[in-house]
Amino acid sequence: MPKIVLASGSIRRESANAAVIATVRRLLEQRDESYEVTELSLRHFPLFDEDLESDGGTPELLAAKAQVASADVLIISSPAYNGYPSGVLKNALDWLSRPGDADRAPLEGLPTVVVSASPGPAGGENVQPHVRQILGNCGATLIDCEQVAVGNAIELRTPEGVITEPSVVKALDGLVDAVAGHLAATPQEAAA
Ligand SMILES: Cc1cc2nc3c(=O)[nH]c(=O)nc-3n(C[C@H](O)[C@H](O)[C@H](O)COP(=O)(O)O)c2cc1C
Repeated sequence: MPKIVLASGSIRRESANAAVIATVRRLLEQRDESYEVTELSLRHFPLFDEDLESDGGTPELLAAKAQVASADVLIISSPAYNGYPSGVLKNALDWLSRPGDADRAPLEGLPTVVVSASPGPAGGENVQPHVRQILGNCGATLIDCEQVAVGNAIELRTPEGVITEPSVVKALDGLVDAVAGHLAATPQEAAA
């Protein structure tokens, strides 16, 4: 079964980006196709430190890297902090750009999708080129899809932590279509 990993670039409790990720998860789970969908907590990445890397890292870090290394697709929802990705997201991507003891880095050749959300009307769209550039520099690939930036996302977040506004759900479903199309066209490695 294809493995899809979802990551919010914000770790706060009432995050709009976490609501986008929860909505994407719900849309994936409503599909006829079956996917193994998991969420990646960026809390599991300590501040990047080559000494810690040389010492082998923490169990949580190694599990998080393994989670991404086994993924067929990674979907990231990024906040904009002063026009750039959050420190926690950049920090996680730096860890995921490193092979450690493995043959390749978790991001190497990994198909990815980037979305953004913010309380403003533009939805943090200006952050997306930066996230894509970092992903490209890390060897990840980008799935061809429309850019989705969720504006007014704090207002749209329901108490259950999802977004139900129809135009947003439709746009996110378009991303899910692109992911499903990519997976259908790509043979997955047989599970060991
Ligand atoms: C340090 C900082 C800088 C920010 N810069 C931007 C920005 O450049 N563009 C933007 O749309 N929102 C900006 N915001 C507002 C965030 O989009 C907002 O806090 C958002 O809710 C963060 O995402 P989250 O809800 O997923 O935590 C900034 C917030 C912080 C804390």
